[in-house]
Amino acid sequence: MKIKLNLENIQTGIQLSEVNALKEQMEKNNLLLHSGEGRGSDFLGWVNLPSSLTANDLKEIQDSADDLRSRCDVVVVIGIGGSYLGAKAVLDALNDSFEMYKKDSKNPIIIFAGHNISGNYAAELQRFLGDKNFGTIIISKSGTTTEPAIAFRYVKEMIEDKFGKEEAVKRIIAVTDAKRGALRDLATEKGYKTFVIPDDVGGRFSVLTPVGLLPLAVAGVDINSLVDGAKDMEALTGADVPYEKNISAQYAAARVSLYNKGKKVELLASFEPKLQYFNEWWKQLFGESEGKEGKGLFPTSVVLSTDLHSMGQYIQEGERILFETMLHVNKPESDFKIKEDKANLDKLNFIAGKYVSEVNEMAEAGTILAHVDGGVPNIKITLDRLDAKHVGGLIYFFEKACGISGYSIGVNPFDQPGVEAYKKNMFALLGKPGYEEETLKLKARL
Ligand code: PA5
Repeated sequence: MKIKLNLENIQTGIQLSEVNALKEQMEKNNLLLHSGEGRGSDFLGWVNLPSSLTANDLKEIQDSADDLRSRCDVVVVIGIGGSYLGAKAVLDALNDSFEMYKKDSKNPIIIFAGHNISGNYAAELQRFLGDKNFGTIIISKSGTTTEPAIAFRYVKEMIEDKFGKEEAVKRIIAVTDAKRGALRDLATEKGYKTFVIPDDVGGRFSVLTPVGLLPLAVAGVDINSLVDGAKDMEALTGADVPYEKNISAQYAAARVSLYNKGKKVELLASFEPKLQYFNEWWKQLFGESEGKEGKGLFPTSVVLSTDLHSMGQYIQEGERILFETMLHVNKPESDFKIKEDKANLDKLNFIAGKYVSEVNEMAEAGTILAHVDGGVPNIKITLDRLDAKHVGGLIYFFEKACGISGYSIGVNPFDQPGVEAYKKNMFALLGKPGYEEETLKLKARL
């Protein structure tokens, strides 16, 4: 696995020496993650997660996945936030973009649900499932999160009605808390196969637990390689690894330095559309971890060159509050050579004979230079390949950087108190028992 960090183009915003001056702070904060002496230490299970996963753990996940694969043509993966984004991100990064439409696919169609409360989505999904051979994985630590709970109600009912209660038990797998919660209770009562979300791993750090691994194994992703890549990165960013060799610590130092210089927005960019949902996973990871106490970089993202035709103007010439972190993939998994066209009306024959990826690469190189010239510092992260091993490594790379960087800006990176505010209002407005006083107050404001 080869993942590299390049900070040379950061220097439009800051000197590299200023970044590296944070060396001791980064090493100290990396150590805190390993010693468990920092804030939020109840949620550090992710730090040694890749190396603690045994062959048996992975086999149990793969066996259940294979059983569900053998029964179903469509698997509905229900979850939201940390119980959704990791699997979606990895699946989109690794899957053929048109897998779902292939008639000869060896893999079941994976549909995500419970990540919104749209009536359209719920009704359309039910219509889609109507004549399908389907099952579900329900992922929720609490079991009471509104969005997945609503989706699971109707998907469970449809499975029971269509396949009968006995077969339904084989088509429903629950990933939830080890002992507590509504979903744990239901799974025990019904006899569903279950997997545990460890107590000490928060949602946004849970992709390498069954939360991510089970749906990915069902989708046909090589979860062993994914975990291997993460394990390699765990070793490469370990407590004993000095700053000069620890790319997570260097990336954390770069973003903290830029933040301290007034660059308040980090734009994750990539010229690979397969990484669109990786951007979304990354946004949750950093947004929920750092955005609190009035602090934190605002994480946002673009997929290029697509968004150069929409957000490109702002990035080039808007408020200079941005820096860009470019995810670059060295070797495409597949490619296509552009052909000569006799008429040449589009005047593009000068690129005939080149691969599409070569054009993409020049677009990327040109974009980085243009953005740097426009005052947008650039951090470049290069993956040699977009395969399971590199994606596993990249996940751990960002998780480690997030922990170090969160401690460096002085927050607890492992809680999310702000997420409750909307839930409280929603329950009050829906008339949940116990919220009567709040209901009156909020309705008066509407
Ligand atoms: O990161 C988090 O903790 C959240 O995004 C949760 O994962 C999300 O709210 C879903 O919660 P639950 O798994 O309890 O349904």
